[in-house]
Amino acid sequence: MFVRALSLRDFRSWEHAELELSPGRTVFLGSNGNGKTNLLEAIGYLATLGSHRVATEAPLIRTGTERARIGATVVNLGRELRIDVELNQGSANRAQINRSPVRRTREILGILQTVLFAPEDLALVRGDPGERRRFMDELCTTRLPRLAAVRSDYDRVLRQRSALLKTAGRQARSKADLSTLDVWDGHLAAHASVLLAQRLRLVHDLAPYLAQSYASIAPESRPASIAYRSAALPPEFSDPARPPRPEDPEELEAILLRELAAARPKELERGVCLIGPHRDELDLILGDSPAKGFASHGESWSFALALRLGAFELLRATGAEPVLLLDDVFAELDRRRRAALAAVAADAEQVLITAAVPEDVPAELAAVPLRVETAGGPDGRVSRILAEHPAVGGERRHDHAIPSAIEREGDPVTDSTEPQAPEPSTGEGHRIAIHRPGPLQ
Ligand SMILES: Nc1ncnc2c1ncn2[C@@H]1O[C@H](COP(=O)(O)OP(=O)(O)OP(=O)(O)O)[C@@H](O)[C@H]1O
Ligand SMILES: [Mg+2]
Repeated sequence: MFVRALSLRDFRSWEHAELELSPGRTVFLGSNGNGKTNLLEAIGYLATLGSHRVATEAPLIRTGTERARIGATVVNLGRELRIDVELNQGSANRAQINRSPVRRTREILGILQTVLFAPEDLALVRGDPGERRRFMDELCTTRLPRLAAVRSDYDRVLRQRSALLKTAGRQARSKADLSTLDVWDGHLAAHASVLLAQRLRLVHDLAPYLAQSYASIAPESRPASIAYRSAALPPEFSDPARPPRPEDPEELEAILLRELAAARPKELERGVCLIGPHRDELDLILGDSPAKGFASHGESWSFALALRLGAFELLRATGAEPVLLLDDVFAELDRRRRAALAAVAADAEQVLITAAVPEDVPAELAAVPLRVETAGGPDGRVSRILAEHPAVGGERRHDHAIPSAIEREGDPVTDSTEPQAPEPSTGEGHRIAIHRPGPLQ
């Protein structure tokens, strides 16, 4: 699949942008702080309804404004779908598919699939287990969009059950409290078992791709592997070679209920929920040692990259080919890893890259450059794009759409239904129009 058009309104440093994109490789070039990562973050948001940089949405809305909008036209096997999301300060977000409002924003999940590799990914290896759980859950949701509802139900039940454990643990326990806990145990186990089954399936499916990606990035290193770790599950579930079975969710639910009952006294004592996928871990293993704490800086980078490339290869082998988003990563890699990443990027359907300077992008990619700058706007500095012609590291290319300069005052983002025809370049590039915001229709 590929993103054919991207519309932004008041997203981070972008006041307004209408961007035409093509399949193949495009690199957003510009000096630090000009808004390059913001572009990839916006595209990633449409795919995951989350940011790879922040846990809350307030920072995504341009300072001084009330709402941000991101829209994209996504082409998948020749079929086009338009998705739009509005992020509101202090009220619920809204979304549209093909200009029709949907009841829940999560209904857009699955239309755009991305794999984003960014400097923040070092935290996948070195950070808390929460980073790896998020990695698994985002990937599971990309594979099975209806899991978003399960995750949201699970989080809600977990919050309510944890609150009850706290109060019931502190006060003299009433019979009513304990029977309410029984009900919550049932809800928790029901949602958790679906999520767990998907995570186990993911680890089983991803393991060979991860091992292969790591071996191609760091052939001199020890072999890399992954395993799911859960204190609640019997050890055989941690074996990535164990094939997933259709009866897994049912079996997992029974195991969780048993474990919750056994952990109840401890949970009441500590006032926290000790059993469930929110406590689990994705073990990253190099040779026989855990990568976390043992792997060198370079090995950690290779592992993080291998997780992303493995995810990309898995998605493309089992479904639609995702858009590959590479945020400022080539500069961080040595020659061999650059070459391994470039090899994957070279035959991906669409790759969007950010880099400070053209030299950071491997020449063989011949990526089409778009220059990102900032300029003073009515409400402070805003990002803008200038088109450039010669492909980075390669030959001059004429077949690539350049961003269209659209100067239509006052149109809301969602009104620009049809893509604008690319205008000929002046050689100095085109300024992307900056508009005043209007409401999402
Ligand atoms: N909510 C916001 N409102 C306005 N501006 C914002 C907002 N969030 C971030 N910015 C601005 O966006 C800029 C950073 O953009 P971004 O991270 O995309 O830069 P970049 O081009 O990727 O830079 P680098 O090369 O350093 O990675 C900063 O100048 C920051 O002040
Ligand atoms: Mg950046």
